[in-house]
Amino acid sequence: MDRLIIFDTTLRDGEQAPGFSMTVEEKVTMAQQLEKLGVDVIEAGFAAASPGDFEAVNAVSETVKESIVCSLARALESDIEKAGEALAPAERKRIHTFIATSPIHMKYKLKMSPEQVIERAVSAVKFARNFTDDVEFSAEDAFRSEREFLFRVFEAVIDAGAKTINVPDTVGYAIPEEFGKLIADIKNNVPNIDKAVISVHCHNDLGLAVANSLSAVKNGARQAHVTINGIGERAGNAALEEVVMAIKVRKDYFKDIYTGINTKEIYKTSRLLCRITGSFVQPNKAIVGDNAFAHEAGIHQHGILAHRETYEIMRAEDVGVPESKIVLGKHSGRHAFKARLEELGYKNLSEDEISMLFEKFKKLADKKKEVFDEDIEALILDELFKS
Ligand code: KIV
Ligand code: ZN
Repeated sequence: MDRLIIFDTTLRDGEQAPGFSMTVEEKVTMAQQLEKLGVDVIEAGFAAASPGDFEAVNAVSETVKESIVCSLARALESDIEKAGEALAPAERKRIHTFIATSPIHMKYKLKMSPEQVIERAVSAVKFARNFTDDVEFSAEDAFRSEREFLFRVFEAVIDAGAKTINVPDTVGYAIPEEFGKLIADIKNNVPNIDKAVISVHCHNDLGLAVANSLSAVKNGARQAHVTINGIGERAGNAALEEVVMAIKVRKDYFKDIYTGINTKEIYKTSRLLCRITGSFVQPNKAIVGDNAFAHEAGIHQHGILAHRETYEIMRAEDVGVPESKIVLGKHSGRHAFKARLEELGYKNLSEDEISMLFEKFKKLADKKKEVFDEDIEALILDELFKS
């Protein structure tokens, strides 16, 4: 009961954001790295959304062996059928079905009454169980839903066989204390809640997705939907690296709660996503930004040299940030350049490719004081991946 299940939706909600779409091959590469990272559930896509998404869910299902592979499906038989079909080759599979439960969504989007919504949710969960016992149900816009109705929906879908009930803050409207209270209220008011795992899915419109997720965990949620680098619709979703490291670093606060994430793979996973999407994180991004472990101010450097914990609450090594602090510039040699490529995860480049990249790097270094990892990644992307 104390393991926090990490449900990664980089390939579904993350990919939905403008500028983050991925090809089938890219999704498979990313899924392999997510598995190495130790995520429990990989939401590989929304099989009914497009033939490409179907293919991606199917290809990830064929590749991934340890993590559970999941597809999103609206509460419609046709969507659920597509999800079941795409997931067929998976060793471990989950269908994630959803319908909105807030008054505004039911009235203007679904044009359905609350009773019709409950009925549809129950039949969707029952239908999904024809394909797998592992069914997750999301009450879209749960945070803005009327509480008594939400409790009834969750009770009904658990009775229908949902093993996980997900509580999305779809529009990123919640404040941490309120969101934590909602989870506590669900625990106390849904009579059969012990038969399901409570999950949360927080959006970052007010910059509170991670804080809301952590507040939920403190109040009894045992699954968090997250994405690498926090990518996702609009301002994004809760960032995997931040949720996981907060739980690990603040063990004194979260007590026995833990995740199965191999944190040393975090940096590599973040970089892989940047390379694939061509979109890099800002330097001050928590955990994976370039400055996350840099100590520039003299007073801080002095403190760090005297005792690391004066200004460091976690170690760069813990999240797999390359240890090397060598600054690359116009005086750097091929050896240092090759070492940096390896630290960034490019271990299989041929000597010819390295020489070609080194030449481009030298030209760039002539124009810049320091060549950053992002510059090198951009060089690689331009020279090796975009041809
Ligand atoms: O934000 C949301 O509500 C979603 C659901 C489909 C879980 O992405
Ligand atoms: Zn979402």
